[in-house]
Amino acid sequence: MSKLNIKALLPLLILSFAACTQQGSKIANWHSYSGDVVIEQKVDSVLSLMTLEEKIGQMNQYSANFAPTGEVADNQSGEYLKKGMIGSTFNAFGAENVRMLQEQNMKYSRLKIPMLFAADVIHGLETTFPIPLAEACSWDLDLMEQTARAAAEEATASGVAWNFAPMIDMSNDPRWGRVMEGAGEDVYLATLAARARVKGFQGISNYNDLSKGNTMIATAKHFVGYGAAQGGRDYHTTDISEHKLHETYFPPFKAVVEDGVGSFMTSFNDLNGVPATGNKYLFKDILRDAWGFNGLVVTDYTAIMELIPHGYAKDLKHAAQLSLDAGIDMDMISEAFVMHLKELVEEGSISENQIDVAVARILEMKFLLGLFEDPYRYCDVEREKQVIMNDEYVDLAHKAAQGSMVLLKNDNNVLPLKKDESKRVALIGPFINERESLNGEWAIKGDRDKSVTVKEGLDAKYAGSNVKFTYEKGTDLPLIDRSTEKVSDIEPSSRGFAKAIQTAKNSDVVLVAMGENYHWSGEAASRTDITLPGNQRELLKELKKTGKPIILVVFNGRPLDLSWEAENVDAIVEAWYPGLMAGHAVADIISGDYNPSAKLVMTFPRNVGQVPIFYNQKNTGRPFNDNAPADYRSNYIDVENTPLYSFGHGLSYTNFEYSNVVLNKSEFTKGGSIKASVEVTNTGKFDGEEIVQLYIQDIVASVTRPVKELKGFEKITLKKGESKVVEFTIDEETIEFIGLNNQPTVEAGDFNLWIGTSSDDESNHMKFSYK
Ligand code: NOJ
Repeated sequence: MSKLNIKALLPLLILSFAACTQQGSKIANWHSYSGDVVIEQKVDSVLSLMTLEEKIGQMNQYSANFAPTGEVADNQSGEYLKKGMIGSTFNAFGAENVRMLQEQNMKYSRLKIPMLFAADVIHGLETTFPIPLAEACSWDLDLMEQTARAAAEEATASGVAWNFAPMIDMSNDPRWGRVMEGAGEDVYLATLAARARVKGFQGISNYNDLSKGNTMIATAKHFVGYGAAQGGRDYHTTDISEHKLHETYFPPFKAVVEDGVGSFMTSFNDLNGVPATGNKYLFKDILRDAWGFNGLVVTDYTAIMELIPHGYAKDLKHAAQLSLDAGIDMDMISEAFVMHLKELVEEGSISENQIDVAVARILEMKFLLGLFEDPYRYCDVEREKQVIMNDEYVDLAHKAAQGSMVLLKNDNNVLPLKKDESKRVALIGPFINERESLNGEWAIKGDRDKSVTVKEGLDAKYAGSNVKFTYEKGTDLPLIDRSTEKVSDIEPSSRGFAKAIQTAKNSDVVLVAMGENYHWSGEAASRTDITLPGNQRELLKELKKTGKPIILVVFNGRPLDLSWEAENVDAIVEAWYPGLMAGHAVADIISGDYNPSAKLVMTFPRNVGQVPIFYNQKNTGRPFNDNAPADYRSNYIDVENTPLYSFGHGLSYTNFEYSNVVLNKSEFTKGGSIKASVEVTNTGKFDGEEIVQLYIQDIVASVTRPVKELKGFEKITLKKGESKVVEFTIDEETIEFIGLNNQPTVEAGDFNLWIGTSSDDESNHMKFSYK
């Protein structure tokens, strides 16, 4: 047998060796993620054959800026590849391309250790779903799970079995461009969304089932506090009390650990003086020790290296040591581990056992994904052809886009524009024909040429009807040069205004589509002015002068300041970045073929100065309300003190009436519960869906509580005239909060309760007590 053949058989030899033995792992301090003794033995046996260098190579991750030839091109990746020292690569897609890279890896890896391919599959791979913030507005957890499942199907058919998603950072700052990747400001809803997405990525029936070939490792990111960046400026410092961490920032992460999420990613930010990527408290004390997380921790992009400018590490070697000591397993891009860990072991600054533990975590994932049995398992070109953008996923993208768009305003029922009425409709604005931006910033492989524009959607919807469209763009979207990060000097010209105004004058109604170019939301896209960019509002002001009814459809990745628009246009549809089926979903809503059902998961401020503004704020000692004298209250003197649109707000074409709000008793005791019920009736002219929301307030507590907290919701479908009773259970879990000791606490006391259509709906107010 040739030398080469022995190498080729090595993985099998390792597997059979492992299968013969009976006990679990011998690696000190390593607790496996799967708890599977056989897997532990396999990991042990591979590790026992590895040199220190080979182990460190497993902890090294690169981005594949590969050319069509499949070559790994950036940094020292080519060199390390040839030494078999790349544990993982991200951003390589396509069954064939990934196969090519894996082949190279297998050729050079002495022990034939397969490479793990990762990617940011944030809202679909090729079938692009709405951005996560938009999808969260559906409040539809099944939908979130299904789109994550579809994304995993596509990704795993395209070579990728490790997802850098979901992003579950809490944030209430719309200046921060990455709010588009999250699920909004409320921790209760965001936690449920996080769980649904992890479940979708990792497997429907069993979260830990990574062996199926169509499930992928999910990553809870970014741990932690990233969304609290000072001033909403991306990557900026955070200062968050330990209580607040436990109350707001930790819960989605803790919940997905309980559900079995496979990996965590560090965040870029400095948290209370210690950058997260070198933060022992976070990764050791909390994640590993308190929550028992045994999966894999990867850094964010160059985050180890960034410990130097943070002022936490004196050089890359120091940074490598700090990160490893904090409990990090894999280094994304920095090359800190691969360059310095060996030396650190040799001089005794770190132990080889620390490395073994990290490598064990990495190898375990590779075993669980079945990569040792078949390194090309996710590289089946035939499966890829069948799976990518199949009809089922395209339909799902359509459904998700419909369910994500929020009807913010609809005066005089200007919407829907019925197909059977005669109308001349002026289509105006830079988003009418915009295609590129519809997928949003993170559509990693979503072909921007395939997304359906508003114009295409409307033309298809109203073909053959008496609704006639005339189109004038009016103005352009201002762009931003991402290489210089400078807002373009070229303010879009107002030359197109005159034609747009004339077109509006010749119409019965004006439909305007405006928003942010997709580079204006997302990573490194923080804004200090969250109005419609460029001269779009100026154009709207001119259109307003025509006196025609105006319908505004907005495309964006964050809550915007739409104060002028809210005051002056007749209807507003918040479309976000809807993905592949954007135009069709907009047309469904405009025509009334789909009755809007989504509700905001993030407050829309009246202006950027109100930020942060969120529904679950504290009362303060001098609360502002309409019944109290305004002076010396906690308020602004130059703007109304309410949000423009509240959390939970979203209209429908029909009306829902809430009645018979009843509590089956007014108090409960330990182990008991109260049933709260409400009857909801569709009293309007359309069938529709309503998201019924339950809020409570703990009036007096040992830690002051917010004015309201979401504690339950149900999305119901009601035909015209139909009624349904919705029931909620109030028990100790409902009233639990994080006490001063940072532990879940339940206290006796009185509570306010509201069941309604939005967080600012005070109409159905009740009280109950816990004794
Ligand atoms: C940086 C982002 O912060 C992170 O979310 C992402 O996963 C990595 N880049 C890799 O693309």
